[in-house]
Formats: sequence, structure tokens, C-alpha cells
Amino acid sequence: MYDRFNRKINYLRISVTDRCNLRCRYCMPEEGVILQPHSSILTFDEIVSFVKVAVSMGIDKVRITGGEPLVRKGIVDLVAMISAIDGIKDLAMTTNATYLRKYAFELVNAGLQRVNISLDTLDPEKYRQITRGGDIEETLDGIDAAFEAGLRPVKLNCVIRDNHNESDARTVTEYGKTIGAEVRYIREMNLSSGQFSIVEGGDGGNCSICNRLRLTATGKIKPCLFNDMEFDVRELGNEEAIRQALDKKPACGSYNNTGDFYNLGG
Ligand code: 5AD
Ligand code: SF4
Repeated sequence: MYDRFNRKINYLRISVTDRCNLRCRYCMPEEGVILQPHSSILTFDEIVSFVKVAVSMGIDKVRITGGEPLVRKGIVDLVAMISAIDGIKDLAMTTNATYLRKYAFELVNAGLQRVNISLDTLDPEKYRQITRGGDIEETLDGIDAAFEAGLRPVKLNCVIRDNHNESDARTVTEYGKTIGAEVRYIREMNLSSGQFSIVEGGDGGNCSICNRLRLTATGKIKPCLFNDMEFDVRELGNEEAIRQALDKKPACGSYNNTGDFYNLGG
């Protein structure tokens, strides 16, 4: 499917939960967030029906995000249900890796192909600070598990303040080289002030080639991360919501006051 600026839209990012076991400083407030009630969260069947319609309209690349997708109960079953849909060429997940030791092999069996893992530093103390309590050993072990299970490529998402030469980013670069993981550098963004930039090593933030739609955990299609617009799939129905989102997808991002990374999945 094409939007009105003739961009081919073939990439769907699905946030499956607004919950996370970490509290990264740039993503979540310390006290946590107001969680959506369970009834507003799309069920597996609703997600799968949506993806089927999206695939029939031209989506062939799907990424599962959160919050932290691996805290959603039954996530492996959901991955299996999505991977069983004919027409998906690329099935990926963005995760903080803390539960990958537990799930990596099951996820591969369920049809997950690859993962992007958030890692901003190699310093255990700094990691604890940035994530407000995370244990880097768990994360590194999860990254090893991703390799062992055969998830490929493994990419590392490194949030930077300014540029990829700052000291934490350099340690991640080195680590990536040692283990054979590509590193993507993401400038810390602030959605409500409209501060966003191009992801180094990825396609995010580059409006002219944007090929994405997002589905939030509560069933809203966001045609743009940096825009307030959303289309409710329960209200409009899957196909009509996709049509409207496609029709209204802006040429370029501006600002977003209605969502944040923890519920939009980056
Ligand atoms: N700025 C840039 N990236 C962010 N992420 C979360 N919050 C922000 C932010 N404010 C990234 C995380 C994760 C991905 C889902 O989004 O590092 O890798
Ligand atoms: Fe959780 Fe990822 Fe947000 Fe960190 S960036 S709090 S790991 S969702």
C-alpha cells in the first residue's frame, strides 16, 4: 500500500504491552506509568486479525515491541500465531533482553527471526542507573542466549545524548564488534517537544523514506511516532482504520503529546 506521498508502507510495529520490568530514564517516569486496564489491551485474537488484514494490504515486515514485549503473558504463543500468517517476510522483536535467556529458544521455535536489544552502556553501575535497577549481567546473558538460539541479526540499540563517540556508546561499539552485533545509535528524543532525529545505522526518523505504521497495545494505529494522530481499530474496524491512517500519514513528523516510548515501542 502507498500513502499520499507515494511512500510504500510495508512495515508494521506492534506494541503488545505498555508494561516493562525496567524504568529507563529517557523512556519511563520513575514512579512508573498509568497502566492501561486489561480490558483496553488488544487480545491475541484481535492482534492476529489485525495483522492478517494489514498483511493482505501490503505489510510484509513486522516488529513486536512494548513496553517490554517479553513481559506479556503468552508472548511465545502470540509470536507463533503471527509467524503463521502467510506473507510476513521479516519478523523481529525489540526487547531489553532481560528475559531472553528464558525465551530465546522458544521464540525461535515460534518463528521469530531476529531481535534488536536496548543497550546504552557496558558499565554495570551506569546500566543500573539508566534502567533504574536493571542488572547488566542478565541483559548480557540474554544477548548470548539470542546468539545461541540463532536469532540473526542481533542488533543493539544504543541511546546516545549527542554522538556515537561518547564514552558509553564507544564501549557498546566495542562490545558489538566482539560479539558480532550491529549497533544502531539513537539520539535521545523527546516526543512532546518534537525533538527527533535520524537513527544512525537504521531507518527510523527519516521521514521521506518512512514505511511504517504502528499499532499500540490498546489498538490505536499511529501513522507517525512524532504526531498525535491515532485511529482506533476497535471503533473503526481493522481495514478502515488502516485506510484512514494511511490517508492521513503526515509527510514529516512534528510532535506527539498523546504517547510516549513506553507505549509506542519506539
Ligand atoms: N529517545 C530515544 N530512544 C528511546 N527509546 C526509548 N525511549 C527513547 C527516547 N526518549 C528506545 C530504547 C529502545 C527503543 C524501543 O526505543 O532504547 O531500544
Ligand atoms: Fe523498558 Fe525499553 Fe522503556 Fe527501558 S526503554 S523502560 S527497557 S521499554
